[in-house]
Amino acid sequence: MLNASTIRCLITAGPTREYIDPARYISSPSTGKMGFALAQAAVEQGWTVDLVAGPVALVEPEGSILYPVTSAEEMYHQVDALFDACDILIMAAAVSDFRPHKIHPKKVKKDKASISINCEPTIDILKTVSIRKEHQLVIGFAAESEDVEMYAHSKLIDKKCDWIVANDISKSGVGFATDTNEVVIFNSCGSKYELGPDTKQSVAKEIIKILKDSF
Ligand code: CTP
Repeated sequence: MLNASTIRCLITAGPTREYIDPARYISSPSTGKMGFALAQAAVEQGWTVDLVAGPVALVEPEGSILYPVTSAEEMYHQVDALFDACDILIMAAAVSDFRPHKIHPKKVKKDKASISINCEPTIDILKTVSIRKEHQLVIGFAAESEDVEMYAHSKLIDKKCDWIVANDISKSGVGFATDTNEVVIFNSCGSKYELGPDTKQSVAKEIIKILKDSF
């Protein structure tokens, strides 16, 4: 049993931004509210919180340590640097899966631009770091719009997570850019909790309590 004051929790939040040129980027509608609510709830537990966040318009919870990043590559390097020291990793960020193959340093004029953008995959941060986990509890998120639990279960296994938090982003009031959420959190040992619909703050508190009790 770990003492609350010695638990270090690493949380990622918000979108990443993959620039095409200085005026355009690929991203997601994520606002970071769920990740920041988790950080607030973790601070309230007395945990030390490292919060790695993509571009968001939110103030970090008092007592957490904010590491602002922009791209998936930057988020990966920051998570990689903090992972060994953490006891819990919660990957709530909506990491962009693709980035332009080439970033233009100057704004591309529309009459010179190609209509298609050549993209390449970004690194899967969660999968890459969870391979080397030792004592860490690793929690992934799964944003799904169909067969939610089936796809979330595949991510739980594929990304070597201890828990997965699944949400159905096709429902209104759930997931991206809302103040509320409704999730299912489960592990591969058969524990499963359905949380919400409720505010992201309440759902976050319940998630943190489940994680605390699973130590
Ligand atoms: N994730 C990550 N690095 C990526 C993409 C996703 O670390 N390049 C993490 C997310 O933070 C989340 C989990 O992986 O915790 C699942 O993300 P999700 O977007 O639901 O799924 P993907 O793995 O991107 O797969 P798909 O988009 O095909 O559903």
